[in-house]
Amino acid sequence: MALRIESDYPLLAHNTFGMDVRADLFVEYHSEAELVAALGELRSRGCDRLLNIGGGSNLLFCDDFHGAVLRSAIDSVTVQPRAVSHSRTVADDGSLCVRVGSGHNWDAFVARALENGWYGAENLSGIPGDVGASAVQNIGAYGSEIKDLVVKVEAINSETCEKRVFTAEECGYAYRDSIFKRPENKKYIITYVTYRLQTAFTPNLSYKALADRFAGRMGGLRPAFGAADIRREVVAMRGEKLPNPAVLGNAGSFFMNPVVPEPVYAELAPRYPGMPHYDAGEGFVKLSAAWLIDQSGWKGRTMGPAGVYEKQPLVLVNRGGASGSDILALANAIIADVSARFGVTLSMEVNQIR
Ligand code: EPU
Repeated sequence: MALRIESDYPLLAHNTFGMDVRADLFVEYHSEAELVAALGELRSRGCDRLLNIGGGSNLLFCDDFHGAVLRSAIDSVTVQPRAVSHSRTVADDGSLCVRVGSGHNWDAFVARALENGWYGAENLSGIPGDVGASAVQNIGAYGSEIKDLVVKVEAINSETCEKRVFTAEECGYAYRDSIFKRPENKKYIITYVTYRLQTAFTPNLSYKALADRFAGRMGGLRPAFGAADIRREVVAMRGEKLPNPAVLGNAGSFFMNPVVPEPVYAELAPRYPGMPHYDAGEGFVKLSAAWLIDQSGWKGRTMGPAGVYEKQPLVLVNRGGASGSDILALANAIIADVSARFGVTLSMEVNQIR
C-alpha cells in the first residue's frame, strides 16, 4: 500500500471528545516498514512534531495540531508458537500468547478472543480505543488491568527508527501508568502488543458490583456462566454509567482516582465515614474521584458547552461545540473546588494536546 501523507487533515473522527480541529499532516501506517518510511518522509519535510494516536479516546485537543499525527492501522492477530522449535501454541499451564497490531480496536480483540476460547480480557470489555493505547495507559476496569495480560510491547523509536522490545516489567506498569507516558519515552511508537490469555475460563469477580450480578451462580464445581456472560454484564454496566461518545463527546474518566499517603486518608476518614477507599499498597490509599466530585456538588453541572456527566461525575462531556479550553475551564474549576474542600488534588487522566 502506498504511503499517503495527508495535509490539513480533519481530526473530528479521530477524537471521541468531538473536537473539530485539524492536523497539519496525517499519516496512517499499516506495517513497521511503512511507519519507518513515514518517519523518514516527515523528517525530510522538516516536520519534527509528531503525535501518535490510537482511537483518540483519551485525548483532548486544545487547538489545531501543528505537526504530524500518526495513526497505526497495523491490525494483525497472531497466536505465538510456544517456542521456536515447537509447533504447539498452548503452554502446559493452558495459557497462550497472542501478538496483536497496535491499530487493532481493543474491544474487537476482546470479542475475537472470546470467540476463540481465549480468556482473561473479558472484564475489560467495552473499553474504547486501540491495542497500542491499552499498553500505554494500562487500561483497567471491573477488577482487571491490562498489565496482568501484557507479555511484551514492540515499538519503533521515532528518533532513530530502531525497533525495541519491552518486557512487561520494563513497561513499569502501575495504576493508569506506564513508562510510555513519560516525556522521554514519547518517542516510542507502539506497533505490537503480545498478551497472555488462558484457554480455561476462570471468572474474575473481584469487583463487587460485577460479583453482585452473578450472585448465586457460582454454585457447584464450575460457575454456571461463561466469559461471554461476563462480557455482556460488563458492557451493560458500562452502558448504565458511561456516555456513548457517538452520542455525547467524552473521553471516559477525565480524572484519575487520587492515590494519597495513608495519613492523608486517616485525617479525612473520621470527617467522611462513607468515603470510598481502596488499599493501594506501600502506605497509600486510593480514593474515588467520582465520589469527591459528587460530594462537591458537580455531578450533572454544566459550564457553557462543557458538562459533568450526570451518571458518572468522573466523565466530562462535550454538550456540543465545546473547545478544549471549555473542557479545561470546567476541569480546573472542579480541581480547585475538590482541593479546597478535601485537600486532595485531582490529576487529569486525559492527555491534553496543544
Ligand atoms: N461514585 C459516586 N458518585 C457517582 C458515581 C460513583 O460517589 O455518581 C463513587 C461510588 O462510591 C463508587 C465509586 O465512586 O463506589 C467508584 O465508582 P465506579 O465503580 O464507577 O468506578 P471509578 O473508580 O469511578 C474506575 C475507572 C473506570 C472503570 C471503573 C470500573 C478510573 C479513573 N476509572 O472508575 O474507567 O470503568 O473504575 O472499574 O480508574 C475510563 O478509564 O474511562 C473508565 C471509565
